Amino acid sequence: MKILLTGGTGYIGSHTAVALLEAGHDVTLLDNFSNSKPAVLDRLHTITGVAMDFFETDVTDEAALTEIMKQRSFDAAIHFAAPKAVGESMEKPLHYFKNGVGGTVALLQTMADHGVRNVVYSSSATVYGFSDDLPLVEGAPTVVINPYGRTKLMCEEILQDLCRADERWNAIALRYFNPVGAHPSGLIGEDPQGVPANLMPFVAQVAVGRRPELTIFGDDYPTPDGTGVRDYLHVMDLAEGHVAAVEHLASDPGYDVINLGTGSGISVKEIVAAFEKASGMPIPTVIAGRRPGDGPASYADANKAASVLGWRATRSLDEMCADVWRWQSQNPNGYGD
Ligand code: UFG
Repeated sequence: MKILLTGGTGYIGSHTAVALLEAGHDVTLLDNFSNSKPAVLDRLHTITGVAMDFFETDVTDEAALTEIMKQRSFDAAIHFAAPKAVGESMEKPLHYFKNGVGGTVALLQTMADHGVRNVVYSSSATVYGFSDDLPLVEGAPTVVINPYGRTKLMCEEILQDLCRADERWNAIALRYFNPVGAHPSGLIGEDPQGVPANLMPFVAQVAVGRRPELTIFGDDYPTPDGTGVRDYLHVMDLAEGHVAAVEHLASDPGYDVINLGTGSGISVKEIVAAFEKASGMPIPTVIAGRRPGDGPASYADANKAASVLGWRATRSLDEMCADVWRWQSQNPNGYGD
Protein backbone atom coordinates (compact mmCIF):
# COMPACT_ATOMS: atom_id res chain seq x y z
CA MET A 1 0.00 0.00 0.00
CA LYS A 2 0.99 3.64 -0.48
CA ILE A 3 0.43 5.36 2.86
CA LEU A 4 0.50 8.99 3.98
CA LEU A 5 1.77 9.51 7.54
CA THR A 6 0.87 12.86 9.05
CA GLY A 7 3.18 13.63 11.96
CA GLY A 8 5.58 11.27 10.22
CA THR A 9 8.75 12.56 11.92
CA GLY A 10 7.24 12.42 15.43
CA TYR A 11 7.96 9.73 17.98
CA ILE A 12 5.27 7.24 16.96
CA GLY A 13 5.13 8.30 13.30
CA SER A 14 8.84 7.69 12.74
CA HIS A 15 8.78 4.22 14.28
CA THR A 16 5.67 3.37 12.28
CA ALA A 17 7.43 4.48 9.07
CA VAL A 18 10.13 1.88 9.77
CA ALA A 19 7.58 -0.87 10.45
CA LEU A 20 5.58 -0.05 7.30
CA LEU A 21 8.68 -0.09 5.08
CA GLU A 22 9.75 -3.40 6.66
CA ALA A 23 6.30 -4.79 5.82
CA GLY A 24 6.77 -3.79 2.17
CA HIS A 25 4.61 -0.66 2.05
CA ASP A 26 5.51 2.75 0.56
CA VAL A 27 5.33 5.78 2.83
CA THR A 28 5.10 9.53 2.40
CA LEU A 29 5.74 11.57 5.54
CA LEU A 30 4.28 14.95 6.34
CA ASP A 31 5.22 17.08 9.36
CA ASN A 32 5.59 20.73 10.37
CA PHE A 33 8.40 19.94 12.88
CA SER A 34 6.37 21.53 15.69
CA ASN A 35 7.43 18.64 17.95
CA SER A 36 10.12 16.85 15.93
CA LYS A 37 13.40 17.49 14.15
CA PRO A 38 14.51 17.22 10.49
CA ALA A 39 17.37 14.94 11.67
CA VAL A 40 14.77 12.17 12.02
CA LEU A 41 14.67 11.92 8.21
CA ASP A 42 18.40 11.09 7.99
CA ARG A 43 18.08 8.57 10.79
CA LEU A 44 15.18 6.88 9.01
CA HIS A 45 17.27 6.74 5.83
CA THR A 46 20.10 5.04 7.77
CA ILE A 47 17.76 2.48 9.37
CA THR A 48 15.72 1.59 6.30
CA GLY A 49 18.06 2.37 3.39
CA VAL A 50 15.18 4.36 1.90
CA ALA A 51 15.29 8.14 1.35
CA MET A 52 12.06 9.42 2.87
CA ASP A 53 9.43 11.00 0.66
CA PHE A 54 8.74 14.02 2.86
CA PHE A 55 6.67 17.22 2.84
CA GLU A 56 7.17 19.98 5.42
CA THR A 57 3.50 20.85 5.81
CA ASP A 58 1.03 21.79 8.50
CA VAL A 59 -1.87 19.33 8.56
CA THR A 60 -4.35 22.19 8.98
CA ASP A 61 -3.22 23.64 5.61
CA GLU A 62 -5.82 22.25 3.22
CA ALA A 63 -4.26 23.90 0.15
CA ALA A 64 -0.91 22.25 0.90
CA LEU A 65 -2.60 18.89 1.54
CA THR A 66 -4.41 19.22 -1.79
CA GLU A 67 -1.09 19.73 -3.58
CA ILE A 68 0.34 16.58 -1.97
CA MET A 69 -2.76 14.58 -2.89
CA LYS A 70 -2.46 15.78 -6.48
CA GLN A 71 1.17 14.71 -6.67
CA ARG A 72 0.76 11.29 -5.01
CA SER A 73 -1.78 8.52 -5.10
CA PHE A 74 -2.47 7.12 -1.62
CA ASP A 75 -4.33 4.00 -0.53
CA ALA A 76 -4.59 5.17 3.08
CA ALA A 77 -3.47 7.72 5.64
CA ILE A 78 -2.32 7.25 9.22
CA HIS A 79 -3.06 10.45 11.09
CA PHE A 80 -0.61 11.09 13.95
CA ALA A 81 -0.15 14.87 13.65
CA ALA A 82 -1.64 16.58 16.71
CA PRO A 83 -0.52 18.24 19.93
CA LYS A 84 -0.59 15.80 22.84
CA ALA A 85 0.25 17.36 26.21
CA VAL A 86 -2.55 17.20 28.76
CA GLY A 87 -1.35 20.23 30.81
CA GLU A 88 -0.81 22.40 27.75
CA SER A 89 -4.29 21.52 26.51
CA MET A 90 -5.80 23.00 29.68
CA GLU A 91 -3.89 26.26 29.13
CA LYS A 92 -4.39 26.50 25.36
CA PRO A 93 -7.62 24.69 24.47
CA LEU A 94 -8.04 26.55 21.17
CA HIS A 95 -4.61 25.38 20.02
CA TYR A 96 -5.82 21.82 20.63
CA PHE A 97 -9.13 22.25 18.82
CA LYS A 98 -7.53 24.09 15.89
CA ASN A 99 -4.74 21.57 15.35
CA GLY A 100 -6.11 18.34 16.83
CA VAL A 101 -9.66 18.63 15.50
CA GLY A 102 -9.15 21.15 12.66
CA GLY A 103 -6.17 19.19 11.33
CA THR A 104 -8.25 16.00 11.25
CA VAL A 105 -11.13 17.69 9.40
CA ALA A 106 -8.72 19.26 6.87
CA LEU A 107 -7.06 15.91 6.24
CA LEU A 108 -10.35 14.01 5.89
CA GLN A 109 -11.79 16.67 3.56
CA THR A 110 -8.75 16.51 1.30
CA MET A 111 -8.79 12.73 1.35
CA ALA A 112 -12.49 12.72 0.41
CA ASP A 113 -11.83 15.16 -2.44
CA HIS A 114 -9.21 12.79 -3.85
CA GLY A 115 -11.06 9.51 -3.29
CA VAL A 116 -8.82 8.27 -0.45
CA ARG A 117 -11.17 6.83 2.15
CA ASN A 118 -9.02 4.63 4.39
CA VAL A 119 -7.65 6.11 7.59
CA VAL A 120 -6.04 4.96 10.83
CA TYR A 121 -6.37 7.51 13.62
CA SER A 122 -4.12 8.03 16.68
CA SER A 123 -6.47 8.03 19.61
CA SER A 124 -5.65 7.56 23.27
CA ALA A 125 -6.69 5.60 26.31
CA THR A 126 -7.30 9.01 27.85
CA VAL A 127 -10.84 8.75 26.39
CA TYR A 128 -11.67 6.24 29.16
CA GLY A 129 -10.68 8.59 31.97
CA PHE A 130 -10.04 6.51 35.10
CA SER A 131 -12.30 3.61 35.97
CA ASP A 132 -12.31 0.86 38.61
CA ASP A 133 -13.55 -1.51 35.98
CA LEU A 134 -10.24 -2.85 34.66
CA PRO A 135 -9.01 -3.97 32.19
CA LEU A 136 -10.52 -1.36 29.88
CA VAL A 137 -12.58 -2.81 27.03
CA GLU A 138 -13.40 -0.75 23.95
CA GLY A 139 -17.07 -0.66 24.96
CA ALA A 140 -16.29 0.98 28.31
CA PRO A 141 -17.86 4.41 28.85
CA THR A 142 -15.82 7.33 27.55
CA VAL A 143 -15.16 10.37 29.73
CA VAL A 144 -13.56 13.67 28.85
CA ILE A 145 -11.09 14.75 31.56
CA ASN A 146 -9.20 17.51 29.69
CA PRO A 147 -9.29 19.34 26.32
CA TYR A 148 -6.68 16.98 24.87
CA GLY A 149 -8.96 14.04 25.63
CA ARG A 150 -11.87 15.96 24.11
CA THR A 151 -9.96 16.37 20.83
CA LYS A 152 -9.37 12.62 20.71
CA LEU A 153 -13.02 11.80 21.40
CA MET A 154 -14.29 14.42 18.95
CA CYS A 155 -12.09 13.05 16.17
CA GLU A 156 -13.26 9.51 16.89
CA GLU A 157 -16.86 10.74 16.58
CA ILE A 158 -16.10 12.59 13.34
CA LEU A 159 -14.70 9.38 11.86
CA GLN A 160 -17.69 7.41 13.04
CA ASP A 161 -20.10 9.92 11.47
CA LEU A 162 -18.14 9.83 8.21
CA CYS A 163 -18.23 6.04 8.01
CA ARG A 164 -21.95 6.07 8.82
CA ALA A 165 -22.67 8.63 6.10
CA ASP A 166 -20.64 7.00 3.35
CA GLU A 167 -19.95 3.29 3.44
CA ARG A 168 -16.92 3.68 1.19
CA TRP A 169 -15.04 5.08 4.22
CA ASN A 170 -13.01 2.78 6.49
CA ALA A 171 -11.55 4.16 9.71
CA ILE A 172 -9.87 2.57 12.69
CA ALA A 173 -9.26 4.61 15.82
CA LEU A 174 -6.39 3.09 17.78
CA ARG A 175 -6.52 3.88 21.49
CA TYR A 176 -2.91 3.86 22.64
CA PHE A 177 -2.03 3.16 26.23
CA ASN A 178 1.51 4.28 27.25
CA PRO A 179 4.02 3.99 24.39
CA VAL A 180 7.66 3.83 25.49
CA GLY A 181 10.89 2.37 24.07
CA ALA A 182 12.83 3.14 20.93
CA HIS A 183 13.98 1.46 17.74
CA PRO A 184 16.65 -1.16 18.68
CA SER A 185 19.23 0.66 16.54
CA GLY A 186 19.23 3.54 19.05
CA LEU A 187 18.94 5.94 16.09
CA ILE A 188 15.38 7.12 16.69
CA GLY A 189 13.45 7.56 19.93
CA GLU A 190 11.37 9.93 21.99
CA ASP A 191 12.82 13.46 22.19
CA PRO A 192 10.47 15.64 24.24
CA GLN A 193 11.02 19.39 24.19
CA GLY A 194 11.71 20.95 27.60
CA VAL A 195 10.94 19.07 30.80
CA PRO A 196 9.43 15.67 29.93
CA ALA A 197 5.81 15.40 31.03
CA ASN A 198 5.86 11.60 30.82
CA LEU A 199 7.50 9.07 33.08
CA MET A 200 9.82 7.09 30.82
CA PRO A 201 11.64 9.99 29.11
CA PHE A 202 12.03 11.65 32.51
CA VAL A 203 13.56 8.47 33.99
CA ALA A 204 15.90 8.19 30.98
CA GLN A 205 17.07 11.79 31.43
CA VAL A 206 17.81 11.12 35.12
CA ALA A 207 19.82 8.03 34.17
CA VAL A 208 21.88 9.97 31.63
CA GLY A 209 22.58 12.78 34.11
CA ARG A 210 20.43 15.53 32.60
CA ARG A 211 18.20 15.68 35.70
CA PRO A 212 19.06 14.96 39.33
CA GLU A 213 16.07 12.88 40.40
CA LEU A 214 12.64 11.61 39.49
CA THR A 215 9.65 12.96 41.37
CA ILE A 216 7.13 10.18 41.94
CA PHE A 217 3.67 11.70 41.89
CA GLY A 218 1.99 9.89 44.75
CA ASP A 219 2.77 6.66 46.62
CA ASP A 220 -0.60 6.42 48.35
CA TYR A 221 -2.72 5.07 45.50
CA PRO A 222 -4.73 1.89 46.08
CA THR A 223 -2.22 -0.11 44.00
CA PRO A 224 0.15 -2.90 45.18
CA ASP A 225 3.08 -0.53 45.89
CA GLY A 226 1.08 2.72 46.15
CA THR A 227 2.39 4.24 42.89
CA GLY A 228 0.42 4.74 39.67
CA VAL A 229 -0.08 1.73 37.40
CA ARG A 230 -0.15 2.03 33.60
CA ASP A 231 0.00 -0.19 30.53
CA TYR A 232 3.41 0.54 28.94
CA LEU A 233 3.98 -0.87 25.48
CA HIS A 234 7.04 -0.86 23.25
CA VAL A 235 6.79 1.71 20.45
CA MET A 236 7.84 -0.93 17.89
CA ASP A 237 4.93 -3.11 19.01
CA LEU A 238 2.71 -0.05 18.66
CA ALA A 239 4.18 0.62 15.20
CA GLU A 240 3.42 -2.95 14.14
CA GLY A 241 -0.12 -2.48 15.43
CA HIS A 242 -0.49 0.34 12.89
CA VAL A 243 0.75 -1.93 10.10
CA ALA A 244 -1.88 -4.51 11.08
CA ALA A 245 -4.58 -1.82 11.27
CA VAL A 246 -3.82 -0.21 7.93
CA GLU A 247 -3.72 -3.63 6.24
CA HIS A 248 -7.06 -4.47 7.88
CA LEU A 249 -8.65 -1.45 6.14
CA ALA A 250 -8.45 -3.42 2.89
CA SER A 251 -11.13 -5.80 4.27
CA ASP A 252 -13.61 -2.90 4.23
CA PRO A 253 -14.37 -2.85 7.97
CA GLY A 254 -16.21 0.49 8.17
CA TYR A 255 -15.56 2.18 11.53
CA ASP A 256 -13.87 0.43 14.43
CA VAL A 257 -12.05 1.34 17.61
CA ILE A 258 -9.27 -0.83 19.02
CA ASN A 259 -7.05 -0.65 22.11
CA LEU A 260 -3.30 -1.01 21.65
CA GLY A 261 -1.73 -2.05 24.94
CA THR A 262 -0.14 -5.13 26.49
CA GLY A 263 -3.00 -5.82 28.91
CA SER A 264 -0.64 -5.64 31.92
CA GLY A 265 -0.25 -2.89 34.50
CA ILE A 266 3.19 -1.74 35.67
CA SER A 267 3.82 0.67 38.56
CA VAL A 268 6.11 3.71 38.64
CA LYS A 269 8.39 1.91 41.11
CA GLU A 270 8.58 -1.13 38.81
CA ILE A 271 9.57 1.13 35.90
CA VAL A 272 12.33 2.71 38.00
CA ALA A 273 13.68 -0.71 39.06
CA ALA A 274 13.59 -2.08 35.50
CA PHE A 275 15.35 1.01 34.15
CA GLU A 276 18.08 0.84 36.81
CA LYS A 277 18.66 -2.79 35.83
CA ALA A 278 18.74 -2.06 32.07
CA SER A 279 21.00 0.99 32.35
CA GLY A 280 23.17 0.07 35.32
CA MET A 281 22.59 3.65 36.51
CA PRO A 282 20.97 4.73 39.79
CA ILE A 283 17.64 6.60 39.50
CA PRO A 284 17.25 8.72 42.65
CA THR A 285 13.58 9.37 43.47
CA VAL A 286 11.61 11.65 45.75
CA ILE A 287 7.96 11.18 46.62
CA ALA A 288 5.61 14.11 46.06
CA GLY A 289 1.83 14.53 46.09
CA ARG A 290 -0.42 13.20 43.37
CA ARG A 291 -0.37 15.02 40.02
CA PRO A 292 -3.74 16.72 39.31
CA GLY A 293 -5.83 14.71 36.88
CA ASP A 294 -3.96 11.43 37.53
CA GLY A 295 -5.69 8.25 38.60
CA PRO A 296 -4.47 5.04 40.21
CA ALA A 297 -4.47 2.56 37.36
CA SER A 298 -5.18 2.16 33.66
CA TYR A 299 -4.56 -0.88 31.50
CA ALA A 300 -6.07 -2.38 28.40
CA ASP A 301 -8.07 -5.40 27.56
CA ALA A 302 -5.93 -6.18 24.51
CA ASN A 303 -8.05 -9.03 23.13
CA LYS A 304 -9.85 -7.11 20.40
CA ALA A 305 -6.55 -6.18 18.71
CA ALA A 306 -5.63 -9.87 18.75
CA SER A 307 -8.94 -11.10 17.34
CA VAL A 308 -9.56 -8.33 14.78
CA LEU A 309 -6.01 -7.38 13.76
CA GLY A 310 -4.06 -10.52 14.70
CA TRP A 311 -1.76 -8.25 16.74
CA ARG A 312 -0.36 -8.63 20.22
CA ALA A 313 2.44 -6.75 21.94
CA THR A 314 5.44 -9.10 22.25
CA ARG A 315 8.28 -6.99 23.69
CA SER A 316 9.03 -7.12 27.43
CA LEU A 317 9.51 -4.31 29.95
CA ASP A 318 13.25 -5.13 30.05
CA GLU A 319 13.41 -4.70 26.27
CA MET A 320 11.54 -1.37 26.49
CA CYS A 321 14.03 -0.08 29.08
CA ALA A 322 17.10 -1.44 27.24
CA ASP A 323 15.99 0.23 24.01
CA VAL A 324 15.22 3.56 25.71
CA TRP A 325 18.64 3.42 27.37
CA ARG A 326 20.41 2.70 24.06
CA TRP A 327 18.65 5.67 22.46
CA GLN A 328 19.20 8.00 25.44
CA SER A 329 22.86 7.07 26.07
CA GLN A 330 23.76 7.36 22.37
CA ASN A 331 21.82 10.65 22.08
CA PRO A 332 22.01 12.34 25.51
CA ASN A 333 20.41 15.48 24.08
CA GLY A 334 18.02 13.72 21.74
CA TYR A 335 18.31 14.88 18.14
CA GLY A 336 20.08 18.08 19.26
CA ASP A 337 19.33 21.47 17.73
N1 UFG B 1 4.80 9.98 36.84
C1 UFG B 1 5.63 10.27 37.90
N2 UFG B 1 6.61 11.21 37.72
C2 UFG B 1 6.79 11.86 36.54
C3 UFG B 1 5.93 11.56 35.45
C4 UFG B 1 4.94 10.61 35.64
O1 UFG B 1 5.51 9.70 38.98
O2 UFG B 1 7.68 12.71 36.44
C5 UFG B 1 3.77 8.93 36.99
C6 UFG B 1 2.34 9.42 36.81
O3 UFG B 1 1.83 9.94 38.02
C7 UFG B 1 1.65 8.14 36.35
C8 UFG B 1 2.75 7.41 35.56
O4 UFG B 1 3.98 7.97 36.01
O5 UFG B 1 1.32 7.34 37.46
C9 UFG B 1 2.65 7.59 34.06
O6 UFG B 1 2.59 8.98 33.75
P1 UFG B 1 2.75 9.51 32.25
O7 UFG B 1 2.65 11.00 32.29
O8 UFG B 1 3.96 8.90 31.63
O9 UFG B 1 1.52 8.84 31.52
P2 UFG B 1 -0.05 9.06 31.75
O10 UFG B 1 -0.63 7.70 31.86
O11 UFG B 1 -0.35 10.01 32.81
O12 UFG B 1 -0.42 9.79 30.40
C10 UFG B 1 -0.41 9.08 29.20
C11 UFG B 1 -0.23 10.04 28.03
C12 UFG B 1 -1.39 10.98 27.92
C13 UFG B 1 -2.67 10.23 27.92
C14 UFG B 1 -2.73 9.30 29.11
C15 UFG B 1 -3.95 8.44 29.11
O13 UFG B 1 0.94 10.78 28.18
O14 UFG B 1 -1.27 11.67 26.71
O15 UFG B 1 -1.61 8.43 29.10
O16 UFG B 1 -4.00 7.72 27.93
F1 UFG B 1 -3.67 11.11 27.99
